[in-house]
Amino acid sequence: MSYRITLIPGDGIGPEVTEAVLRIIAAAGVDVDWERHEAGIPAIKRHGVTLPKPLLDSIIRNRVALKGPVTTPVGEGFTSVNVGLRKELDLYANLRPVRNLPGVRTRFDGVDLVIVRENTEDLYAGLEHVVVPGVVESLKIISSRASDRIANFAFRHAREHGRRRITAVHKANIMKLGDGLFLHSARRVALDYPDIKFDDRIVDAACMHLVMKPEQFDMLLLPNLYGDIVSDLCAGLVGGLGVVPGGNLGDFAAVFEAVHGSAPDIAGQGIANPTALLLSSLMMLRHLKEDAAADAIKAALGRALESRHVLTRDLGGTASTLEFADEVCRELERGPSA
Ligand code: NAI
Repeated sequence: MSYRITLIPGDGIGPEVTEAVLRIIAAAGVDVDWERHEAGIPAIKRHGVTLPKPLLDSIIRNRVALKGPVTTPVGEGFTSVNVGLRKELDLYANLRPVRNLPGVRTRFDGVDLVIVRENTEDLYAGLEHVVVPGVVESLKIISSRASDRIANFAFRHAREHGRRRITAVHKANIMKLGDGLFLHSARRVALDYPDIKFDDRIVDAACMHLVMKPEQFDMLLLPNLYGDIVSDLCAGLVGGLGVVPGGNLGDFAAVFEAVHGSAPDIAGQGIANPTALLLSSLMMLRHLKEDAAADAIKAALGRALESRHVLTRDLGGTASTLEFADEVCRELERGPSA
């Protein structure tokens, strides 16, 4: 089977890790016609906007995209392309599996978490203004429609993937109305899934429990802002941002991307770890029901990481992005019995 998939290489380390991932997917024999599109700063230069219409049309047509990171200026400039894309395509669920990987040494063993983050509202609604000079108001939007929808997504995912427990994370002791509504939705939806255990934690305590005993958690369900922060914390539990994948899913389209950003501190040096985007592409292949190819790449990646011969710097090695990609390709060729 051949696929047409939208590709956003992104900027910073995006094009570097994307090239590595495309090489590995091709080596696994998956036939993809990639429709390349720019977003963010490169798109402004060519199209005058951060999210050009041909890009959005391509994703709507193909229903699946693989995306590298896109830079958002801090404290000024244009609004986040990532947030914009999620809103435009109503990609309401952000799914981030966090697992220990073979050969990646961390302080913890047995981490196997799935993070489900609401992707469309909360403080990311982008509603903020200067009330009077020196005073800014940022609006946190929480609706029962979006909260019910993400809770249902999480419970359906739990059922389909053999997960047993969902923990909602909130600050409803302080934000009794906003976070209270999110928690109330989760509790109500939980009643429809008696086979899945449900509990909740206040976000600050959840962070402490996560860094002390992460293996006690199974799935986390969070509003947008806590989801963003806690998923980076969880990435740190299993080896950092270079190894954690993600998917943005809606009813009509899915965009797969790593948790990390454009890493300006290492961009252009060819040393970024492509593992996070590669694992995101495996989520994409499973979404396309290409499980055999996903299994083969996952096994090859596992062998490459475990042997520790060719690793990028974030994992203690000296290899470049493409040297690591070539090692995974060699493992793919060798197959499991080597
Ligand atoms: P970042 O994730 O780009 O970098 C944080 C740290 O992790 C840096 O030290 C970086 O070198 C390291 N790192 C990240 N990915 C790595 C990889 N694959 N291999 C090795 N090391 C890696 O976060 P930062 O610096 O806060 O954000 C930079 C830019 O990226 C900002 O403009 C931000 O808005 C954007 N961003 C974009 C995202 C997206 O497109 N989905 C997600 C997060 C941030």
